[in-house]
Amino acid sequence: MKPPLRLLLPLLAAALAAPLAAADAPPLYRDPSQPVEARVEDLLRRLTLEEKVSLLHADSKFSTAGIPRLGIPERWMSDGPHGVREEIGPYTWAKAGRTDDFSTYLPVATALAATWNPDLARAYGTTIGQEARKRGKDIMLGPGLNIQRTPLCGRNFEYMGEDPWLTSRMAVASVLGAQAQDIASCVKHFAANNQEWERRKVDVRMDERTLREIYLPAFRAVVQEGHAWAVMSAYNKFRGEYCSQNGHLLNDILKKEWGFPGIVVSDWAATHDTLGSAFGGLDVEMGSDLPWQDFYFAGPLLAAVRRGEVPEALIDDKARRSLRVMIATHVLDARPPGSINTPAHQGTARKVAEEAIVLLKNEGRALPLDPGRLRSIAVIGENAVRLQAHGGESSELKAFYEVSPLEGILRRVGARLNVTYAAGYGKSADPGALARAVEAARAADVAIVVGGLNHDSGFDCEGADRTSLALPYGQDELIRQVSAANPRTIVVLVNGSPVTMDGWLGRVPALVEAWYPGMEGGNALAAVLFGDVNPSGKLPCTFPRRLEDSPAHALHAYVEEGVEEYKEGLLVGYRWYDTKGIEPLFPFGFGLSYTRFDYSDLAVAPGPGGTAVASFTLTNSGARAGAEVAELYVHEERPRLERPEKELKGFRKVYLQPGESRRVAIALAARAFAYYDPARPGWVAQADDFRILVGSSSRDIRLQGAFRRTETAAVP
Ligand code: GLC
Repeated sequence: MKPPLRLLLPLLAAALAAPLAAADAPPLYRDPSQPVEARVEDLLRRLTLEEKVSLLHADSKFSTAGIPRLGIPERWMSDGPHGVREEIGPYTWAKAGRTDDFSTYLPVATALAATWNPDLARAYGTTIGQEARKRGKDIMLGPGLNIQRTPLCGRNFEYMGEDPWLTSRMAVASVLGAQAQDIASCVKHFAANNQEWERRKVDVRMDERTLREIYLPAFRAVVQEGHAWAVMSAYNKFRGEYCSQNGHLLNDILKKEWGFPGIVVSDWAATHDTLGSAFGGLDVEMGSDLPWQDFYFAGPLLAAVRRGEVPEALIDDKARRSLRVMIATHVLDARPPGSINTPAHQGTARKVAEEAIVLLKNEGRALPLDPGRLRSIAVIGENAVRLQAHGGESSELKAFYEVSPLEGILRRVGARLNVTYAAGYGKSADPGALARAVEAARAADVAIVVGGLNHDSGFDCEGADRTSLALPYGQDELIRQVSAANPRTIVVLVNGSPVTMDGWLGRVPALVEAWYPGMEGGNALAAVLFGDVNPSGKLPCTFPRRLEDSPAHALHAYVEEGVEEYKEGLLVGYRWYDTKGIEPLFPFGFGLSYTRFDYSDLAVAPGPGGTAVASFTLTNSGARAGAEVAELYVHEERPRLERPEKELKGFRKVYLQPGESRRVAIALAARAFAYYDPARPGWVAQADDFRILVGSSSRDIRLQGAFRRTETAAVP
C-alpha cells in the first residue's frame, strides 16, 4: 500500500534539498569540528603548485600571501620579544607613522628571567598574545632563547640569561601563554646566534655535547612542552652551513628527533640558496628586499620543482606545515579579538618589573628609603629620564607610555620631598654636568644615580656587540665623585647585560639592577626603593669582575669573523666560574631581600625511573614579607665525561610572611642527572653518587643532600 502523499512530500523536499545543503555545507578544511590534520589535508589537495609555493615566502616585509579563492588570508608577523612592534612600512624599514600601533612595553626578556617566576612568564606571554591578536598579527617573532655566552652580545637583553634550565622554564611558560591566544610563537634564533658581531657570517663550531646540553635545551623545551608553532633559523653558520639550510639542525634534530610539526622561518634575508634551503629544512623565507617573486623560495623554487630538481612532495611538506600552523591557531575560525594596554596588561608589566629588580647590595639598611625621614633626594643620570622603548632595532616598540625612574620617584614622593634632577652624564649632558650633579648630591639627604646602558648601537642593541663591560659616558667617575660628596648614594642600573663597576662599588651602600623595566619601570623601581615592594629578583647571568674572566674571552674564543670555536664547551657562565674557581663580581642566581630567608631539613627521596624529589623547609626569618627563589643544583661525583661543577636543575619562588615556614618540594626528572653522550648518541644518566645543592644563589648553597643512582640508563 502506497504511503499517503502527505508523508511523501517532506521526504521529497528533503531529497531535493540534500544536494543544495551539501553545496552549502562548508568544505571540510573550514570546519573547526574536524581534526586539524584532516582539515590540512583537505585544504592541501585543493592547492595548485603555485599556490603552495606562495605560502613559502614573504609577500611584504612581515607577511606571507593569502589565497583568496580558498579563503586563506595573508598571514602577518610581528616583532618582538617584549611587545608588539610598531608598524613598519611594507617595503622598507621606515616606520609607517601610524597612530594605531602603540602597545604595552613589557620589561625585556632578561628582566623576565630575573623574576624566576614562570607564572609571570605565562602572564607575559598572554599579554603579548592578546595584543598581537588586537593588532591583527598571526605570528609573533619571539621569545628569543639564545644563551648568554659573552656578556658583550648586543642582544643579551632580548634573551633569558646564561642557563638552559632557567631559559627553558621561562620560555615554555611564555609561549604557552602567547599561543593560548591563537597566535603562533616563532622562537629564535635557531641556533648558536650568541653574538651580533658578524652575525651573518660567523661560522660557529662546537662539540655535540655543548650543543645538546647548553644551546638546544630551551628550543627543545618550547617545541616539546611549549608546542611552539614556529622556529626562526639564525643568520650565522653552524659547522660550516648556514642555519637557514642546516640539515643537521633543522631536519635531523628539530623536525625528526624532536618531532617539530610547525614552520621554520628564516631570519630576514638570511636565506642563501634555493635548493640548499629547500632540502636543508627551511619552510618560509622572509626578508625585506623587493621583488618578492625573486626570493629563493618564490620563482626560483617553483622553477626548480618544474625542472624536477625539487620533488613536489617536499613542497607539500612545507605547505602542509604552513597550513597546519594556520589551522591549529584557528586563523580560519573564530579567534579571540584580543585586547591592548588593558589594566591587566599594565599590571603584568608592573609586576614583572617589580619582581625583576635585583637588590645587589644593601649595607646598613640603606634601602628601603623612608620618606618620613628625608627632606630631599638628588636623582642623577641620563637613565633616570631616558625612555628606552624606542630602541634596540627589531625589538623596539611604541609604548602607550613609559614611566621613567625619575617620574616614578616623583610620583611616589615628589609631593612631600624636594626631588632634584641632574643629568650628570650622557649624550645630552653638557659641560659642567658632572660638577652640577656632584653639587646636587652634596646638597641632598640622599643621592640616587640611575646609570647603566641604553639601546644605542654598540650597547644593548641588535646588530653590534659592546666592546667593553665598562659603564659608558664616564659614569664610573661620576659615581665615585657623587658618592664622595654624599655617602648615602644609591646606584640603580638600567641595562640588559653585565657591566663592571670600576672604583665605586665599595663606596656606595646600595646597588639595584633594574634592567630595562618597561613602561611601568619607574613605578616599580620607586616601589622597591621606598619599600612598598620587597625585591625578589635574582641574576639570570653572571656579572664578571673583568671581561677576561668570562670563558669566551679567557679562551680567546670570541672572534670577530670567520670560524668561531666555542672552546669553553659546556662551561658557560657560572659553569665556568664555579668549575675554574673564579670569583665573579656578582654570581648567577644572586639577589638580596629586605628580609632574611633560612633553609633547613633537606631530604632527597628517590622516585621511580631514576627520578627524585628534594624537599626542604624555607623560613622567612625577617620582619617583613618577601619572596625567595630557592635554587637547586646538581653535582655528579664521578662523571664518566667531564661535567660542570654544578648545574641548575630546579628552582621555586616562594612568598612568605614574616616568621612563616614552608616545606618546599622540587621534583627532579631522570634528565636532571643526565648528560649527553655523543658516542651513543643520546642522553644518559650514570649510576653514580650525586650531590643535591640547594641555596639562594649559585654561590650561596645552604643545604646539601645526596642521591645515589644505582643504574646507568638512557634518558629520552
Ligand atoms: C632581525 C632579527 C630578528 C627579527 C627580524 C625581523 O634581523 O634578527 O630577531 O625578528 O629581523 O625584524
